[in-house]
Amino acid sequence: MTAALVVLAAGSGTRVGAGVNKVLLPLAGESVVARSVRVALAVAEVSRVVLVVRSGDESDVSTVLEPLLGDREVVLVVGGADRHASEWAALQVLAPDIESGEVDVVAIHDAARPLAPVGLYDAVLAAARRHGGAIPVTPVAGLLGPAGAVTGAAGVQTPQAFEATALLSAYTRAARDGFSGTDTASCLEAYGDPTGPGVSGEVSIAAVPGSARNLKVTYPEDVALAEALLSPR
Ligand code: CTP
Ligand code: MG
Repeated sequence: MTAALVVLAAGSGTRVGAGVNKVLLPLAGESVVARSVRVALAVAEVSRVVLVVRSGDESDVSTVLEPLLGDREVVLVVGGADRHASEWAALQVLAPDIESGEVDVVAIHDAARPLAPVGLYDAVLAAARRHGGAIPVTPVAGLLGPAGAVTGAAGVQTPQAFEATALLSAYTRAARDGFSGTDTASCLEAYGDPTGPGVSGEVSIAAVPGSARNLKVTYPEDVALAEALLSPR
């Protein structure tokens, strides 16, 4: 049994506003998407890496990936109108391997988090095999309750990993309903039925420790911050 990894790069990066998709911006000499894919390729026991790209970005993305590949394969898939649609595009490509049982767990990651370490993939994949689902969570600074107790607010990151048949089943049923979730966990929360359509049940989702370093490039200042984190000190 092997894992599959999905890297989502099919957005437009409008909030960064760089003129090109933010995933193509260089960070300390390597583009955001190249770094995210390079890390994904370093995760052990992965049989498939699927990279979801925006229509029109295919050739730019292929050019930056080319030097990373060696004898490895990355499947390029054109994404959809929102993040959920891009996930669905990747899962449809993975469906035969999930249905055959070759892929037992899938992790889905935002290319816009280029600093996610290999160890975080390992942690969510292991926890998803044990619990059904796993997401990286960090405490949110500045939200302290009485006597310093954290109020429960948490920052949810990617990669998020799920048992593959439960994930595919949830997204298949979500597609029938036209449901679109903000992240993978939100779709599993709504459609997380591991036993198949029509049967009630849910996927339990474990929290694994995320990291403040695993920042998401959302705004222009995040590009500078990510670059600073990557530069030798
Ligand atoms: N994403 C995707 N397909 C979409 C929209 C987003 O694959 N249709 C990906 C992005 O490439 C990114 C991740 O989902 O890696 C998180 O999305 P976000 O940070 O919102 O990126 P963008 O949508 O590109 O940025 P913006 O919302 O500022 O346009
Ligand atoms: Mg977006």
